[in-house]
Amino acid sequence: MGKKTKSLGWGVRKEGRTLWTRNAVKGSSVGSERRKREGRIEWRRWDHTRSKVAAALVKTNSDPSLLLPEKSSTCLYLGASSGSTVSHIHDIVCGSQNHHNGQVVAVEISPRMVRDLVSLSEVRRGLVPVLGDARIPMQVSPFIRDKADWIHQDLSIADQALTFVRMTTSFLKHGGIALLSLKAASERSADGDDQSRFDKAEGILLDSNLDLLERIDISGLEEQHVVFRCTLN
Ligand SMILES: C[S@@+](CC[C@H](N)C(=O)[O-])C[C@H]1O[C@@H](n2cnc3c(N)ncnc32)[C@H](O)[C@@H]1O
Repeated sequence: MGKKTKSLGWGVRKEGRTLWTRNAVKGSSVGSERRKREGRIEWRRWDHTRSKVAAALVKTNSDPSLLLPEKSSTCLYLGASSGSTVSHIHDIVCGSQNHHNGQVVAVEISPRMVRDLVSLSEVRRGLVPVLGDARIPMQVSPFIRDKADWIHQDLSIADQALTFVRMTTSFLKHGGIALLSLKAASERSADGDDQSRFDKAEGILLDSNLDLLERIDISGLEEQHVVFRCTLN
């Protein structure tokens, strides 16, 4: 690794602006991401132009490790798609053969995407794919072992902030980390331009029982997106 390598916690590194996670399944990529060896360890590139969590890690004004779960955590991922970001979270919290005893519950409404998640879960112990509606706590609760230390919501639907408040109220541990990736274009057009949609969502978070810690503008990497970082005290 080069000189400017910084550890962001177990199994995740930042090298300049490039992020890497420690591959839990050595010798295989999830998409077409690069891998590199360093002794017995294999690192997998986490592309910040294709993952909102990674984009937020690059753009945050705070310590990026504040956005990430620790190894062995219980994590809830709402809007998992085919699992590309989920796989990096799994690298961090579970590791090879889930020797950290973490859990990553990945909820997705599209059966086609869930098929990919199921294939991933066959080689990534601790990853739990759930075919369901991420707006409905009862569709998630049978699968999660405990309250979550870390939640990320990335749903391309309207009313993203209201859903986030409902789901974090049901599942987030006190002191846990909750990230909302908000896409302006998914909100209702009656809510005005992008900025007013972000402001409206921010107002909903400020009125909720969550503490809003940071609003991270990831435009330039993901257009029309901000990531809100919250916790529950
Ligand atoms: C922007 S993509 C997520 C990308 C993913 N987070 C990543 O970084 O790889 C949004 C996903 O949310 C899913 N989705 C939309 N509405 C949903 C719902 N109500 N419940 C669960 N998943 C939903 C979509 O099918 C889509 O796969």
